[in-house]
Amino acid sequence: MNEDANAEAPGGVGEGDTDAAGHVPVLVEQVLGLLAPQAGQVVLDCTVGLAGHATRIAPLLAPGGRYVGLDLDPANVALARERLDSVAVGSDVEADLIQANFTTARAVLDELGIDRVDGVLADLGFASNQMGDPQRGLSFNSDGPLDMRLDPTLTETAADLIAGLDETELANLLYRYGDERRSRRIARKIVEHRRRSPINTTGELAALVRAAYASVRGRSKPSSRKRRAGPKRIDPATRTFMALRIAVNRELESLEALLASLGELMRPGGVAAVISFHSHEDRMVKRAFMGWHREGRGERLTAKPVVAEESERLSNPRSRSAKLRAIRWLGATAAGEAGEAGEAGGLGGR
Ligand SMILES: C[S@@+](CC[C@H](N)C(=O)[O-])C[C@H]1O[C@@H](n2cnc3c(N)ncnc32)[C@H](O)[C@@H]1O
Repeated sequence: MNEDANAEAPGGVGEGDTDAAGHVPVLVEQVLGLLAPQAGQVVLDCTVGLAGHATRIAPLLAPGGRYVGLDLDPANVALARERLDSVAVGSDVEADLIQANFTTARAVLDELGIDRVDGVLADLGFASNQMGDPQRGLSFNSDGPLDMRLDPTLTETAADLIAGLDETELANLLYRYGDERRSRRIARKIVEHRRRSPINTTGELAALVRAAYASVRGRSKPSSRKRRAGPKRIDPATRTFMALRIAVNRELESLEALLASLGELMRPGGVAAVISFHSHEDRMVKRAFMGWHREGRGERLTAKPVVAEESERLSNPRSRSAKLRAIRWLGATAAGEAGEAGEAGGLGGR
């Protein structure tokens, strides 16, 4: 099983990864160790979700600190507010929870009168309560509208994409965002089906993808049965659902914009930590952090991604594909200084 098809994929989120509020945060101790939040600091949580990380970080900013939490899902912003209130951060730490895409973080900070922050956290993807709600259309395990929007103000749903893209575009989307090797076969099935009737539900789409797989398996030789004795197969619909979710929510484009804006958000010495669940995302984070490190604009705090320990992997399946990378921002001006220092064997030489 590939990392992407594990916890992040719709079928991977199941028993054992939820608490009473529906989401257990991943890699919490590791995030705390890297961000090292201090009294009086300002932390920007780009994906506050159900405030799992927030309720651990915010109290450490007291007294005098500030916690800014963003989420594009208004329902999660409301839940995060409740949970943060319940740990009584209130008087000692100012908490601002705002419905916004993290691509607009600079504008949000401007509105709040915040110049730079000491820490940035982005825990990408979706929360378990979103996956568990059939009305969101994210899961192939329960029937619901084929929606997939995390931000309800977006106008294009997964059903719109399925109805509007031509066969090649659909196949490319499934291959690019889902690494789906049977993308062409699935795209053909979708197009054949929608000629007869529109595909509006998760159940209809999942059945089509499973049928596309079954027609291949039906033709495979008996000897291939042996291979089935290996690790448990993922549901054939896993990659198609993941690809559509990434496309509907423009997840890779948003991450790219966030990475490009980090330097405008952080004060020199501040730390950014990103948790990703998908190899494309992790590659983007790795490249960005590596680039800053080489240019002397950042100091990589994780040469290799931090992953969950066995105990967490067992208790929270979602953690199995989580990869955490962090960087200390040294500042845009450090690049010039580092260039000079590099010639003398300083930062630039690392
Ligand atoms: C993995 S959950 C975060 C969980 C959170 N760290 C916690 O401990 O409860 C990801 C959250 O990010 C939100 N999200 C995804 N993309 C976003 C974006 N571009 N801007 C803001 N929020 C986003 C989702 O709606 C979801 O609530």
